[in-house]
Amino acid sequence: MNTLPRYDLYAPIHKALRLFMTDTLSQLSRLDLTDEQDLATGLAQLEALLEAASRHLQHENDFIHPTLEIHQRGASGRIAMEHREHLDAIAMLRTQAAVLRAEPAAPTAHRLYRQLAAFVAENFEHMDVEETRHNQVLWAACGDDELAAIEGRILASIDADEMTLWLRWMLPAFNPTERAQLITGLPPEAREPVLLSARSLLGDTAWAKLRDALDLAEPL
Ligand SMILES: [Fe+2]
Repeated sequence: MNTLPRYDLYAPIHKALRLFMTDTLSQLSRLDLTDEQDLATGLAQLEALLEAASRHLQHENDFIHPTLEIHQRGASGRIAMEHREHLDAIAMLRTQAAVLRAEPAAPTAHRLYRQLAAFVAENFEHMDVEETRHNQVLWAACGDDELAAIEGRILASIDADEMTLWLRWMLPAFNPTERAQLITGLPPEAREPVLLSARSLLGDTAWAKLRDALDLAEPL
């Protein structure tokens, strides 16, 4: 029996998204409304998260759902409906963030924090369905080379700014083996900026492990 792990389209990006969501939620939890800079930073990260979440679900709709539907009609129905609900929630969160930006008040900040918490909770359940039921259909119907080709099409549709943002959250979300695999898989010209970013995002121990895994001669 083949026990090798299958190609997982969802796991890496969902690790990044879960960390991005929980980090942003904790920023809103400790937001200091008397500190203009803190408020601006927190709301900017929230907007970056909401933009990333809407692009992420669009990539899934455009590149993964058609394959699911070819192999099992209706397989993406529940998740596609939840994606429409997520877009409504994202619009609502943007409106509430604008209200807080215009008039910083403690009840408004707490409401926004609660609403983001509910959005994150829903997304955690949602991502689990994708990583179990959707993967089950994909793994039964497609070889790993076909799944890698889907990922290639998703990556080709992402611009440099979006890629930089995902790498910023993937690096700290990944375990040491996954970090090394991520960097080894990059084109040579992309490695240095990502390594510089990794140096600033990782603690000394995690950075030393990455350097060892990549056999880097020179400290950055
Ligand atoms: Fe999704």
